[in-house]
Amino acid sequence: MTVHIDADVTDVIGHVPRRLFGSFVEHMGRGVYTGIYEPGHPAADERGFRRDVLDLVRELGPSVVRYPGGNFVSGYRWEDGVGPADRRPVRLDPAWHSVESNQFGLHEFMQWAQAADVEPMYALNLGTRGIQEAMDVLEYCNHPGGTTLSEQRRANGADRPFQIRLWCLGNEMDGPWQIGHKTADEYGRLAAETARAMRMIDPGLELVVAGSSSAQMPTFGSWERTVLRHTAALVDHISLHAYYQEIDGDTDSYLASAAALDGYIRATAGIIDETLANLRLDKKIGISVDEWNSWDLRRWNDVDSARLAAEGWQQRPKIIEDTYTVTDAVVVGSLLSCLLRNVDRVSMANQAQLVNVIAPIRSEPGGPSWRQTIFHPFRLAAASARGSSLRLTVNGARIHTTQHGEVDIVDAAATVDSGHCAVFLTNRATASATEVRFCVRGADMSLADAWTIATPDGLTRHATNTAESQPVQPTRLAGVTAASHHGGTTITAILPPLSWTVLRLG
Ligand code: AHR
Repeated sequence: MTVHIDADVTDVIGHVPRRLFGSFVEHMGRGVYTGIYEPGHPAADERGFRRDVLDLVRELGPSVVRYPGGNFVSGYRWEDGVGPADRRPVRLDPAWHSVESNQFGLHEFMQWAQAADVEPMYALNLGTRGIQEAMDVLEYCNHPGGTTLSEQRRANGADRPFQIRLWCLGNEMDGPWQIGHKTADEYGRLAAETARAMRMIDPGLELVVAGSSSAQMPTFGSWERTVLRHTAALVDHISLHAYYQEIDGDTDSYLASAAALDGYIRATAGIIDETLANLRLDKKIGISVDEWNSWDLRRWNDVDSARLAAEGWQQRPKIIEDTYTVTDAVVVGSLLSCLLRNVDRVSMANQAQLVNVIAPIRSEPGGPSWRQTIFHPFRLAAASARGSSLRLTVNGARIHTTQHGEVDIVDAAATVDSGHCAVFLTNRATASATEVRFCVRGADMSLADAWTIATPDGLTRHATNTAESQPVQPTRLAGVTAASHHGGTTITAILPPLSWTVLRLG
């Protein structure tokens, strides 16, 4: 059984934005405290940033990091996190039934973002707060000086403005679990007026309005239509959030999660187009997939939330620290491929989250840090996907899934950039290898390298990486051949069962 994939270097879907490889740090569980920040840890620098974690973040290669939440932000007062650390208030964080020490705040995040070499993306509280607080934090961050708020920032150690360009207008305001949850009309009005006021202060901002928190929300579709009717003239992006998990052992459906993400993105894109046409607005609104990942929600619903309630309010509780498997890494790889195939509509994306909380990086308090299985597809894709995403034609076997209907056995994406090509291949066949012939016209290239993430010898698809041992690593894929023909190149590879592979040509 051979899968044939055809491409032409002149037939592109669109440019691959660097922001496609974003991440997310929320004040939640151990994402910040004992994650990226742990004063007193042997690897901490003078600011309390864990150097070992920073090294892993730089290796992972996220381009933009969203902060400070998430559900957390909808009850957050940004002022609590600025000024002398010993005078900052300790507060309840009702979203995650936790205690927030505020020892890490805006200045610490901006310093950390600089050290990690990532663009900051700041989320505003539109749950319990509104236009005034959004204007205040913007003035504090971006105004050069001469006003009380900007001078306060300077007095707090940041002489130059932070110049944060990307702002999220709230988080998951469609969700009944959200503090300050609103109807689409209530939120749409608030987001529009917040955007208008913010643009009066700084017209160069990029604003992200909150779309749906999942495609399963009963309001998905109507939420976007209403919110965009209020905000389309004032925003640059609309978000969508998407998490996937294996349900009741239905591995085939889980491996086809990219089909669901694809449908979700295309449906959102259709609503954007329809709304812009109805409003006669000649502009583009990108889709910010600003939370996506594999997440076993049962762990939160059945285990962690019950434990939190039983143990009471505490700082940095251990919550949703999912330990990822080979299967999860393959799904994450295919979700990245899906994002690459949708670069005509997706303007940025943030894997949620970065450290400890459903994260590619794990760390122990006072102890080591390590790469989870899902670290590897993200790192390889962020490092290899460059230039333009190619339109592909895939011909080969298909598989029936309960949740997503028929999908290709091999899920594929490819990018091309001045004589270099990267091909991303997911083999969804769980028990058999699949041969792939990738034929790209218009370029004479040879194989540079081939990496695959598959089940290590002697282990199962449930294999994980832990502090003690990390058996799940990319390995070189042997036996890949490249042949030139009439100005094109054909690559032949045999993909291991249940695997995610990147072929790099140049
Ligand atoms: O990433 C974890 C949580 O998932 C975020 O706080 C929230 O926005 C989403 O529901």
